[in-house]
Amino acid sequence: MSLQDFLSSLDGLVADAADAFQAATDTDSLEEARVRFLGQKSGALRDIQKQMGSIEASDRKTAGMRLNQTKNAIQTAFGEAKDRLGQADQGGIDPTFDPSLPGVRPELGHVHPITQTIEHLMEIMGRMGFEAAEGPEVEDPWHNFVALNIPEDHPARDPLDNFYLATASKGADLGGEGSQLLRSQTSTVQIRVMENRQPPIRVISLGRVYRPDAPDATHFPMFHQMEGLFVDRHVTMANLKTVLRVFAENYLGTDVDIRFRPSFFPFTEPSVEVDFYWNGTWVEFGGAGMVDPNVFEAVGYDPEQYSGFAFGLGVERLCMRRHGITDIRDLYSGDLRFLRQF
Ligand code: DAH
Repeated sequence: MSLQDFLSSLDGLVADAADAFQAATDTDSLEEARVRFLGQKSGALRDIQKQMGSIEASDRKTAGMRLNQTKNAIQTAFGEAKDRLGQADQGGIDPTFDPSLPGVRPELGHVHPITQTIEHLMEIMGRMGFEAAEGPEVEDPWHNFVALNIPEDHPARDPLDNFYLATASKGADLGGEGSQLLRSQTSTVQIRVMENRQPPIRVISLGRVYRPDAPDATHFPMFHQMEGLFVDRHVTMANLKTVLRVFAENYLGTDVDIRFRPSFFPFTEPSVEVDFYWNGTWVEFGGAGMVDPNVFEAVGYDPEQYSGFAFGLGVERLCMRRHGITDIRDLYSGDLRFLRQF
């Protein structure tokens, strides 16, 4: 065989092998093609190699070199085809991925029980015509105390009973006029609403309040209140009791009774503690009363023309009673085993 013929059959072989590998659609057909071209016993390359003996001795070196190059080229083409099929088989996915294993569900967050309670309370009060109002959590003594008829020397203003802000204390004495504090009650929002609007007023305010209490089962330094304010002509204590009764029946269930006990708050006169009778016991949920004329005067309302009631209920207390939660700290521990139950 001439070197010329030998070399041209090698060239033809590379092209044929590349076509065959390209055409293979699965590992079986690829393997078939591999055996056809590279097979040790009867592969096409092997057959050509057998012709080497018939080539002129002086041309054999060239023939051998080209034979090796051809073999390498075919092997490279085979390797590429194998990679291509391998990737297609696995869809490009990590071969250790096992689609038969049960999946890992992504953890979905949900609304915190206190936020759920707040939404529920807003919805119930909204049906009675109360709209939501908001105020800042960092307050000044005017809104937290003075306008609410809590005078300078009142023990409720004691720095030991409030979170005054250190920055504000630099220029002013703690609790003094220029100081700032985390609001200790949502009654502040009553003042903010009345300063900006004229009666009739029917608002609730749901938000955080802060007091330096040591945490235990029933105390936490941050908690929530639902404040209510109703101002119009001829508003009476009977209106207050009706609103609170309807509220309690809606939130806790139909068999709820309500009781007022005489009490004192600087911003209401008369003032009462509000108890609900539910599941066999009386439980105190907050305070209420008729807005004190001094408060109306502080915001520029004429107490001869208007009267109103106000109330402040503990949101945690409501939430805990309804759901049978016995320790307020559970609400703020961030423990998912607890939170997942709501
Ligand atoms: N602000 C009171 C407190 O934090 C609760 C309260 C009592 C609010 C009587 C009122 C009210 O609006 O009329 O303990």
